Amino acid sequence: MRHAGGVSRDAVADPVLHRRRRQRLLDALGDGLLLLPTAPEQRRNGDVLYEHRPGSDFHFLTGFPEPEAVLAAWRTGRGRHRAVLFVRPRDPVREVWDGPRAGVAGAVRAFGADAAHPIGELWHRLPDLSCDHARLFHRLGVDSAFDRRLLDAFATLAQKRRRRQPVAHPAIEDPIPALAAMRQRKDPAELAAMRAAAAATVAGHIAAMRATRPGIREYEAQAALEAAFRRHGSPRNGYPSIVASGPNACVLHYHENDRRMRAGDLLLVDAGAEVGGCTGDVTRTFPVSGRFTSAQAAVYRVVLRAQLAGIRACRVGAPWTRAHVVCVRELTKGLVELGALRGDVDRLVRKQAFKPFYMHGTSHWLGRDVHDVGAYDDDHDRPLSLVDGAVLTVEPGLYFGAKDQRAPSALRGIGVRIEDDVLVTRRGPVVLTAAAPKAIDEVERLVGRS
Ligand code: GLY
Ligand code: MN
Ligand code: MN
Repeated sequence: MRHAGGVSRDAVADPVLHRRRRQRLLDALGDGLLLLPTAPEQRRNGDVLYEHRPGSDFHFLTGFPEPEAVLAAWRTGRGRHRAVLFVRPRDPVREVWDGPRAGVAGAVRAFGADAAHPIGELWHRLPDLSCDHARLFHRLGVDSAFDRRLLDAFATLAQKRRRRQPVAHPAIEDPIPALAAMRQRKDPAELAAMRAAAAATVAGHIAAMRATRPGIREYEAQAALEAAFRRHGSPRNGYPSIVASGPNACVLHYHENDRRMRAGDLLLVDAGAEVGGCTGDVTRTFPVSGRFTSAQAAVYRVVLRAQLAGIRACRVGAPWTRAHVVCVRELTKGLVELGALRGDVDRLVRKQAFKPFYMHGTSHWLGRDVHDVGAYDDDHDRPLSLVDGAVLTVEPGLYFGAKDQRAPSALRGIGVRIEDDVLVTRRGPVVLTAAAPKAIDEVERLVGRS
């Protein structure tokens, strides 16, 4: 059995929306031919493929769900462009196995392409398509097979253009920075998807809290989490769920998820549901038996205080790093209170004395990709300012390894992270995932209450 193909659940047939996005991008890029493939299919083993997920940029501009698809688009005048989709043609035999395809006609009818052709015709049509363009917008280095075929097409193009030497092929420019800037500032449709992803993500975290009790394995809590994601309209996760109990909470991207949980453990769950192509990214940490020990509660309060301060720092015009600066100061103050560090807080911050216990950043852009596109620094390596419509995470944590001699013995084996998704607006930060409980008493009331 070949598992592949018919992934119409990712179809977003909204031609007006996608035409508007393409026009904005092409206006930002200027004249030239944009060539954008979707994500390539990936083989898992034998004849089994990984589930296909459309490439984020491609899906943003087309809403087209199927693998083996390429967008070609160019401006045709002020406020106008032409979009051509290359797609898998209808194939009654393959569709029996893989499910229905939009086909060439469907790419035009449902997805609003101006024209469509079978994907097999891409390479012999490309020389003609690119003949009249001095610039070609394509990111090299992502798909080497695609790049190689592009070079072959240029050889044909050189023949066609031999009377116009010395220009054998168009100048290749990277469209991704312009695309990333567009994606970073969410449009209303993206925001609706972000809110839906946040709602499903919250539902999952609440379900995981309710399902957790001593004696079950981490993957059982994961099953409750992800079942709730699915029930709330999420066909897949935005990234592999981290369900890390006890000492595993100190492994930042833990993914084994198979330890049996014990009374007295904390469980750290970092997971996000994808809806409409966008993902949530939330972390909650809670006691497996429903009651924080005093050491766990002391650490938790420090992290929560830091996170709330970090969220308040996410304001239009502030550097995106302000949340990190604020969190690091709060965490350092807390580390002194907890007896893990000694000395003057400002000096400890300057020396980065927190690093053994807080070794990751506080924020990243969030959107279609969990670590989403978008620049962080300007050309002088200075942090960019937050803009209205950007979404970022705020995710401080403290991690005391079970065998870490630098940590007070009462804290060893405790790992806490608290993460929410924050929309930056002119009226201040909006926490999209605020409905996931994080106050100690709220969390304690939920755990184990299935
Ligand atoms: N879930 C990955 C992260 O928080 O960055
Ligand atoms: Mn994150
Ligand atoms: Mn996360």
